[in-house]
Amino acid sequence: MHTQRLVDTVKALVAGDRGLLAMDESTPTCDRRFAKLGIPQTPDMRRAYRDMIVTTPRLGDCISGAILYDETIRQETKAGVPFAQALEKANIIPGVKVDAGAKPLAGHPDEQVTEGLDGLRDRLAEYAGMGARFAKWRAVITIGAEIPSRGCIEANAHALARYAALCQEAGIVPIVEPEVLMDGEHTLERCRAVTEETLHTVFDELHTQGVLLEGMLLKPNMVLPGLAAADQSNADDIASATIGCFLRTVPAAVPGIAFLSGGQSSELASIRLNAMNLAFKGRMPWALAFSFARAIQQPALEIWRGQAVNVVAAQKALFHRADCNRAARRGEYDAAADAPAAAPH
Ligand code: G3H
Repeated sequence: MHTQRLVDTVKALVAGDRGLLAMDESTPTCDRRFAKLGIPQTPDMRRAYRDMIVTTPRLGDCISGAILYDETIRQETKAGVPFAQALEKANIIPGVKVDAGAKPLAGHPDEQVTEGLDGLRDRLAEYAGMGARFAKWRAVITIGAEIPSRGCIEANAHALARYAALCQEAGIVPIVEPEVLMDGEHTLERCRAVTEETLHTVFDELHTQGVLLEGMLLKPNMVLPGLAAADQSNADDIASATIGCFLRTVPAAVPGIAFLSGGQSSELASIRLNAMNLAFKGRMPWALAFSFARAIQQPALEIWRGQAVNVVAAQKALFHRADCNRAARRGEYDAAADAPAAAPH
């Protein structure tokens, strides 16, 4: 096991007040977001978009690591530099998404299991050769009337643990992402209960597979009411439910927790991360950071719209969101100054 290398990489990812940028949308997901804005869905436009992100001035002030998609890690920036190397030059650690996506789970209607373990050892060796120092695997847990089932939680937890062990064998830090989705009418309490059961099961499996907790990061959902729930809860209640849940389930040996944004608005994601870091400062054994995709990228994507003339403005918007989340890590995000419309939360 490459213990020291793993520990050093994790420490660098969560040190200070920086966080991670997820820019690993699969081609179908990226194309769906492009289509909504009328952007052509071609490999070259996806490359141009990722080029805009990676060449954002001073992005490395706020972002410690960026997660690439398989297509992107094989591409080069406009200047002819492979994306992983361009990130390193910007003081950002390159990572890569290695799962093959969530597929229907046999025998469990409306539930999914993430695939991609077959051949993963060889793919990890290839990604390491291309410069990836960490990886990501996302499992999806849906809340519904009768779900999630134990079968779904256990299948996903087992796959996450097998993935994490393979990563560590290759000297690559695994980001373990069990995402409990926001879709639905469920309450904050129901999300807390499902997240708690999921995390208990995930850490049990990580232990069974011999995963080094000091050499991994957890990328969970915040504990939130369903998007269609009548009571949307305030940031303080969300902070208490989320951190209370993690204190019961996430071992202190895990160096960091980096949230996904899951479809929250950019401002709400920052407000809620800020509330947690403010209320629980000095009372959490792990760093509490971010690994957002939409909550950092969306405003920039809407400005960019595939036009070279919009690159500078889009980069400013991207840097701004990254910087807001950096402030939220310190508990110093000023929501009122950032977006008055979001102030009530
Ligand atoms: O796997 C999910 C992404 O890495 C995070 O995306 O912040 O848009 O939920 P999100």
